[in-house]
Amino acid sequence: MRALARYRAMVTTPLIDDDALDDLEREFVGRVRGRVLEIGAGDGANFGAFDPDVQWQGLEPDAKRRAELATRAREWKHEAVPLDAHAERIPLPDASVDAVVGTYVLCSVGDPAAALAEVLRVLVPGGRVVFVDHVLAPPRTLKRAVQRVATPISKRVCHGCHWDRDTERTLAEAGFIGRDIRRLRVRSMPFGPVPMLLFDGRAPGGVEA
Ligand SMILES: C[S@@+](CC[C@H](N)C(=O)[O-])C[C@H]1O[C@@H](n2cnc3c(N)ncnc32)[C@H](O)[C@@H]1O
Repeated sequence: MRALARYRAMVTTPLIDDDALDDLEREFVGRVRGRVLEIGAGDGANFGAFDPDVQWQGLEPDAKRRAELATRAREWKHEAVPLDAHAERIPLPDASVDAVVGTYVLCSVGDPAAALAEVLRVLVPGGRVVFVDHVLAPPRTLKRAVQRVATPISKRVCHGCHWDRDTERTLAEAGFIGRDIRRLRVRSMPFGPVPMLLFDGRAPGGVEA
């Protein structure tokens, strides 16, 4: 019975390619408005996706990436200088941003629960979050076994990247309320599709729109 449920989950989870994933990511990132904090912004891959009117503030702990991010932020006419910080300790006041974005970051942070607690603290009540990440594959699949084996290595060589995080659960445990949750699989070789999560949600509280 469980095997059947796993099979059903697999075949009903849409299978897409990288280009379709890029389009969806851009669409999700483009939804945020107002004062936006982007955690683990890397070298600024998301700049083209933001609404032109957002007041962007980046956060990036890696010095080399942060320098590149600062250059690109200026090119995109964002005034704020990227913060030299980890998401587990965000140097911003409580309730000071309207939205938080993180793409491929919750796989990388040392302590996702602590990072999300900080995200909640800096968000206004009811503030928006958009997260995109690769996530843990279903139990008893080859993909999950590969993720478990690969993670100790990827943690060391890929900016702390964990392949085996159940990010949807961590977001729920942190108190975020999903509004548009997409669970997808992206074509990949040789170990089969990568499970992905796109999460557009809200912090608790605030006024319902
Ligand atoms: C895979 S990259 C993604 C970069 C960018 N968001 C993107 O989509 O291209 C992960 C980023 O998270 C950053 N990072 C790692 N640990 C972090 C932490 N604790 N808090 C915030 N960012 C972190 C890394 O330096 C890196 O730039």
